[in-house]
Amino acid sequence: METRIFTDQVEDVKEAAKVIAAGGLIAFPTETVYGLGANALDDKAVGKVYAAKGRPSDNPMIVHIWDKSQLSDLTDFITEDMNILMDAFWPGPMTMVVPRKEIVPDVTTGGLDTVGVRCPSNEVARNLIKYSRVPIAAPSANLSGKPSPTTADHCIDDLTGRVDGIIKSGPCEFGIESTVVDMTGEKPMILRPGMITKEMMELVLKKEVLLDPTLLKRPDIFNNEGEGLLVAGDDFKPKAPGMKYKHYAPEAEMIIFSGQKEKVIEAINKEKLLAEKAGKKVGVILYEDSALAAHDFFAQLREYDKQDVDLILAEALEEEGVGFSVMNRMFKSAGYNIKEV
Ligand code: TXA
Ligand code: MG
Repeated sequence: METRIFTDQVEDVKEAAKVIAAGGLIAFPTETVYGLGANALDDKAVGKVYAAKGRPSDNPMIVHIWDKSQLSDLTDFITEDMNILMDAFWPGPMTMVVPRKEIVPDVTTGGLDTVGVRCPSNEVARNLIKYSRVPIAAPSANLSGKPSPTTADHCIDDLTGRVDGIIKSGPCEFGIESTVVDMTGEKPMILRPGMITKEMMELVLKKEVLLDPTLLKRPDIFNNEGEGLLVAGDDFKPKAPGMKYKHYAPEAEMIIFSGQKEKVIEAINKEKLLAEKAGKKVGVILYEDSALAAHDFFAQLREYDKQDVDLILAEALEEEGVGFSVMNRMFKSAGYNIKEV
């Protein structure tokens, strides 16, 4: 398949929107990561997304709308908490899981009776949705198992020849995927942490927001043999089906060092020297703050893969606020290979 490259200018975005409306696949920028979009209400189109990514079909997709008013096309459900969260964080990096209307096909929700909905703030994304005149189902625009794409070049590397088009825009503002929050229970529950943190939601809702308990667990066994494999163990069944798969993995082996700053630096330097003596190419990941870490982490993994790095040594961030969300990705990237020092 020939993959057309579109600019992010309105006339080009309108052309790309026609491709979506006709049942095609377009990779496009959002403020979190690039998405791979299809008409969410067209089961054939959505089916092609799974194939292009090599994605397990029980993994539901987030449906993107350009404006809050489009939410009622997808669900009859609306609560006071949803109104508060939408007013505070939409358009933006927050996905709400709500009961779906029948119009949303099974392939889009991976057979679940709920649907994840997000109104992105990125103008190119909003225009693409608006001009296509349909809600757009879009997972991250990477091959399944790879780090999420935060630049157009990442999409070009993964998806050329597999999709109809790619909209070439700048790097994503935030760099990690949206916060996914389940709104169907008594209290909202975060299924995937992101830039909109538990604390930020609690501040506007003035009530407790729960974390899916599996977010606090580290599986002992992690099956590393290829893509899309399940994390072993019955006690590891996250509510967001996508969270159970091997994810964000660089080609290189990766070790996370956790502990007091000086000790971590010392341990990383020691490990680096040892590995280099053994002829390995080593990449190091250190971040000064968690927003920068979110912005750069996936791109850094891809960069080290390009450089054929054999071993990545990363410093753990404080698991607080956005740091908690970045560490959720970092642990998966490293297959939970953690050294406490
Ligand atoms: O920032 C983002 O959310 C990006 C951009 C493109 O919008 N999209 C994204 O999609 O990260 P994806 O498919 O890579 O991740 C979607 C996550 C998965 O973990 C999936 O299981 C969960 O959201 N999810 C989607 N719908 C759900 C539902 N109805 N119930 C529970 N989890 C759901
Ligand atoms: Mg993804």
